[in-house]
Amino acid sequence: MGKLPDLLTIGDVAARSGVPHTALRFYEEKGLIRAERTGGNQRRYPRAVLRRLAFIRAAQRVGLSLEDIRAALSALPDGRTPTKADWARLSRQWQEELDARIDALHRLRGRLTSCIGCGCLSLKSCALQNPDDELSEYGPGAPKLKPAVEGGI
Ligand code: FES
Repeated sequence: MGKLPDLLTIGDVAARSGVPHTALRFYEEKGLIRAERTGGNQRRYPRAVLRRLAFIRAAQRVGLSLEDIRAALSALPDGRTPTKADWARLSRQWQEELDARIDALHRLRGRLTSCIGCGCLSLKSCALQNPDDELSEYGPGAPKLKPAVEGGI
């Protein structure tokens, strides 16, 4: 591919980034990327959008929500495109969140083991319905269902 022009069409950006047009419009709607408009109301993106998209895609692969990504991007001075140092700093910060999520998934997997092949979904004894036996303080029965039943739903 040759030298990039300063402003890219949505087709250029889609082709170079691998991000479909629909996702580009969605990211713009969510405030993650910005485009100028031509007199004919066509989008024109600055070249730096490609790095911004690489950042967004990498952060999504880590499992971050678009809201987290938007917040990280908007915290950069003057809404600039993330630099290598920005990515290094943010990815270190996100590593902690990722580790916490992995721990939670390990705990969930442990609970699921006792459910495999069971099917009871008991509000009292199923570890997925009642993690850490948190309903025991409400006494016997199905406390989570009571309000719905009593309310006539
Ligand atoms: S489904 Fe029976 S213990 Fe979870």
